[in-house]
Amino acid sequence: MELLDRRSAIYSDRPTMVMANLSGYGQPFVLQPYGDNWRQQRKIVAQDFSQIGIARYNSVQEREARKFVYGVMKDPATLARQLKLRMGTIIIQCTYGHYLKDENDPFLTSPLTAMENFSKSTARGAWLVDFLPLLQYMPKWMPGASFRSTAAKWRQIVWDTTWEPYLWLKENLVGSATRAYCISDNVFGPGLGERPPSEHVLHGSRRAGQKPDQRARGPIGLAASTVMGAGMDTNNSTVLIFFLAMMLNPSVQAKARRELDDVIGPDRLPTLNDKPSLPYIRSIMAEVMRWHPVMPLGIAHSLSKDDIYEGMLLLKGSLMIPNVWYMLHDPEFYPNPDTFDPDRYQNVDSEMEKIPELIFGFGRRVCPGRLFAEGTFFLIVATILSTCEIVLPVDTKGNKVIPNITFSSGTIIFPSEFDVDIRCRSDKAREMLSSLVSDGAE
Ligand code: HEM
Repeated sequence: MELLDRRSAIYSDRPTMVMANLSGYGQPFVLQPYGDNWRQQRKIVAQDFSQIGIARYNSVQEREARKFVYGVMKDPATLARQLKLRMGTIIIQCTYGHYLKDENDPFLTSPLTAMENFSKSTARGAWLVDFLPLLQYMPKWMPGASFRSTAAKWRQIVWDTTWEPYLWLKENLVGSATRAYCISDNVFGPGLGERPPSEHVLHGSRRAGQKPDQRARGPIGLAASTVMGAGMDTNNSTVLIFFLAMMLNPSVQAKARRELDDVIGPDRLPTLNDKPSLPYIRSIMAEVMRWHPVMPLGIAHSLSKDDIYEGMLLLKGSLMIPNVWYMLHDPEFYPNPDTFDPDRYQNVDSEMEKIPELIFGFGRRVCPGRLFAEGTFFLIVATILSTCEIVLPVDTKGNKVIPNITFSSGTIIFPSEFDVDIRCRSDKAREMLSSLVSDGAE
C-alpha cells in the first residue's frame, strides 16, 4: 500500500505484456500504459460508475439479480449458465443498452470468450514471449511459433467484441427516445462528448484489411468493451464462490436469514437501500472475497521512475505484483485463514473494508467498477438468502455430496464445476420472484 497506493503517481504503469498485446488487449485501457490514452478511457468509466453515476443502473441490477435467483431456484443445475446470462445482461445493458435474448446471444458469447483468452494471455509466466519479446518476430511457420497464430485468433475476437456492439448501437439505437441510459450514450447521446470513429474508419478500413488496432481508436468503444470484459468474469466467479461457501456453511446461512427476516421480512424482496442495515450480509460478502479472491495476484503494475523503498533501489520498469491472496490468508491477521467465518469481522465495517481495499486493486489503477460490482453482488446474496436455502446435493443413497473443488489458473480464477441444490423458503417468496419474471420486463 505504501508503494502502490501512496506513491501511485509513479507506480501506476503497466508492464508490457507481449502475448496480451499480440492478442489485441493492449488497446482497452486495463493494460494501457499510464498516459493520455489510459486517462481518456478511464475518465469515461470512472464518471459513469461513480457513486452518483451508478444509481442509473440500480433498477437493472435489481431486476436481473431477481431473475437470476428465480432461474436457479427453478433449476439449480443451470447455476453457472444463468449466472453468465444475468451478469452479462446487467453489464451489456449498462454498456450498450442491449437486452440479451438468451445465452447464445453473440453480445454475450463473444466477450466471454475474449475474457477467457484475456485471463490466459495475461497469466504471469505462461508465455515465453513475455520474457523474450524478440520471439514475437519469429516466422509463423517456425517450430515454437504457434503462439503467434493463437494470438491472431484471439485478436480477431477482441476486435469483434469491441466494435460489433458499438456498430450495432449506432445503427439500431441512436435517436431512440425510449431506451434507458447506457455508457455509450457518452458518444451517441444528444450533445454529449466526442464523436464516434467515423463510419469509413470502422467499415472502410476493414475492407482495406488493415490490422484491427489501426482501424479505429474511439476511446468510448474501448472504454465500453473494457467495462464489458472487466465486469463479467470477476463478478461471476465471486458469486460461484459465494454459492460454495453457503453450501458448506449452513449455520452462516441460518444467521443471515435471521438478519434478513428481521430487517426485510417475508413480504418484499431486498433492494440496494437495505445494504446499510444488513451488517452480517456485508460480512459474508467480505468473507467470500477474502476466502478466495478471484484475482489472487491482482493485475501487475510497473514503476515509471526509479524509487527507493526502505533502503532498496527499485528500478524504473520494475514489475509490481501484489500477492493479494497471501495478504488475505496471512494467519497473523486472519487466524485459520482457510475457514469461512464472517464473524471474524465482528460486524465492524472498518475491518470488512480491508478486504475490498485489497481485492479491487491499488492507487490510480484501482478498479473503477468496484461500487457497481459490490451492488450486484449484494443484490444476489441478499435476494437468494432471503428467499432460498442453498444446500449440498445428495447422491442416490441420500448422502450429502461434498464437492472437491479446484481452481483454474490465470489472472481471474474460477472454481471447478460443482452441483448444488436450492430450496425455496416459502410460496410467498416464489410468488414474488415469479411475478417479476412473468411480467416480461426487460
Ligand atoms: C468482483 C468484481 C471485481 C473485481 C474483484 C475486480 C478487480 C479488479 C482489479 C484487481 C483490477 C486491477 C487494479 C489494479 O491494477 O491495481 C481491476 C481493474 C479494472 N476493473 Fe475491476 N473488478 C471487478 C468488477 C469490475 C466491474 C463490474 C467493472 C466495470 C463496471 C470493472 C472495471 C474495471 C476496469 C475498467 C479496470 C481497469 C482499471 C485501470 O487499469 O485503470 N471491474 N478490477
